[in-house]
Amino acid sequence: EAEKVVAELRERCATPASLLRDVAAAMAGEMGAGLEKEGGSRVKMLLSYVDKLPSGREEGLFYGLDLGGTNFRVLKVHLGGSKKHVVNSESREVSIPPHLMSGTSSELFGFIAGELGKFVAEEEGTDMPNGKKKELGFTFSFPVRQRSVASGTLVKWTKAFSIDDAVGEDVVAELQTAMVKQGLDMHVAALINDAVGTLAGARYYDEDVVAGVIFGTGTNAAYVEKANAIPKWEGELPNSGDMVINMEWGNFYSSHLPVTEYDEALDKESLNPGEQIYEKLTSGMYLGEIVRRVLLKLSLQSGIFGSIDNSKLKTRFHLRFKADPKISVNVANRTPHISAMHHDETPDLKIVAEKLHQILEITHTSLEIRKMVVEICDIVARRAARLAAAGVAGILMKLGRNGGINNQRSVIAIDGGLFEHYTKFRECLESTLGELLGEEASKSVAVKHANDGSGIGAALIAASQSR
Ligand code: BG6
Ligand code: GLC
Repeated sequence: EAEKVVAELRERCATPASLLRDVAAAMAGEMGAGLEKEGGSRVKMLLSYVDKLPSGREEGLFYGLDLGGTNFRVLKVHLGGSKKHVVNSESREVSIPPHLMSGTSSELFGFIAGELGKFVAEEEGTDMPNGKKKELGFTFSFPVRQRSVASGTLVKWTKAFSIDDAVGEDVVAELQTAMVKQGLDMHVAALINDAVGTLAGARYYDEDVVAGVIFGTGTNAAYVEKANAIPKWEGELPNSGDMVINMEWGNFYSSHLPVTEYDEALDKESLNPGEQIYEKLTSGMYLGEIVRRVLLKLSLQSGIFGSIDNSKLKTRFHLRFKADPKISVNVANRTPHISAMHHDETPDLKIVAEKLHQILEITHTSLEIRKMVVEICDIVARRAARLAAAGVAGILMKLGRNGGINNQRSVIAIDGGLFEHYTKFRECLESTLGELLGEEASKSVAVKHANDGSGIGAALIAASQSR
C-alpha cells in the first residue's frame, strides 16, 4: 500500500531530459512573449530600469534594506572606488514577526523603518560623511512594476506575504513615509529585486555573469537584455543599449511541468492559488510542505506510522527546508528538516528518526520506513533541482548561449538558502544543467554561488544612481 503511494509519486515527479528540454524551451518562449507586450505572458519580464551594471568604480557609503524572505536585513556597505573593492560591510538580520506578513502596509513598513533606524543609529559616527544625506538601496523581493530605478508599485505579494492594502502602491513612497515618521532622513536611491541585486553584485566581480538567480524561500531570475529587443518598452532607449529584466519566473507555467495531486492541493490551499506554480515546485518554502502532504497521505491511508496523533502532520508548513530562526532556542529545530533527513548518512538513519519524532511526533519507525521517507525527500528535491536547471537552460537558450559555438563564457550567479544549504539540491541542479547543455556547451557555462550578492548589489546600483 505505502509502496504504491511512493511509486506513484516517483512516476508523477519524473523529469526525464526530454521533458526538461521542453520546459526550457517553454521558458525561453515565455520570456519572448513577456517582452513582446504587457500581459503577454505569465512570466512578467519586468523592466528594472537598471541599464548599466557596476563598473567597479563605485564609491561611497551606502545603506541597504533587504526584504523578501522570512528574515530581513539591514546593511551598510563601503565601496572603495577602485576596481572590485568593497572596503567593508556590516549587516544585521532581523526576523519579521509573522503577523506583520499579513497585517497592514504601514505596520510592516513601520517595523522595517524602525529596525533600519536602530541600525543606522548604532553605525552612525563611525565613518559617516558629514552633512550628506544617507543613501539607501532597497532590495524588495516581490514583483514590482517600476517607473524608474527608484520607484515602483507592488504587482502582488508572493511567498508568505499577503498585505492587501500595499498592492498597487509605490513601495518606495511607503518606505519613505515610514522613515519620516521615525525621523530618519535617508534617500532611497534604488529599488531592486533580489535577483537583480544578485546579478549586479556578481557582475561587479566577474564580467561574464549573464544572469542572477535565486533559489531560496522563493525563486526568480534576472538577466541583461538588449533594450532594442524589448518591444513592449515605450521609453527612450538607454545609452548602454541594455536593460536588466526581472523575470518573475516563479509564475511560469507550462503543461510540461510534472504537477501531482499534492502540488494541486498545496496550490489550492495557498495564499495565491493558481499563481507561482513553478515557484511552488522548485523553491524552499514549498519543498517541506509537499513532503508533509505525502507523509500525511501515507499515515492516513496505510497507517505506516502506527496509531499516532496526526495533528502535527496535518499542520501546514510544519516541515520546513530551513529552520525557523524564532525557534533557535531549541537546538532540534535549528537544522533544516527535510534537508537534514535527506542528507542523513548514518547507517540506521538516526537523524530521520529524530526529525520524525521531534517535528512530527512520529515515534516508532522501522529502518525500511525511514528509507521511504528519505526517498520521498529525494523525489521532491530532485524534481525541484531538475526543473530549476531547466529554467536556467531556458535563459541560456534565450540568450543563444546554450550551444557553445563561439565558446563565450557565461556565468550564472545563484543565491538563496535552498541553493546555499541544500547540498543535494545544488549538486543535482548543476549536474542536470550539464546534462541539458551537453559536454561541449557545458565547458563555457559556469554556475557560481553569489554569496549575499543582493545586499552589495543594492549598494552598487544605489551608487551608480546617486552620482
Ligand atoms: C540572500 C539574499 O542571500 O538570499 C537575499 O541576500 C535573497 O536578497 C535571499 O532574498 C533569498 O534566499 P532566502 O533563502 O532567504 O529566501
Ligand atoms: C518570489 C518573488 C520574487 C523574488 C523571489 C525570490 O518569487 O516574487 O520577486 O525574487 O521570490 O526571493
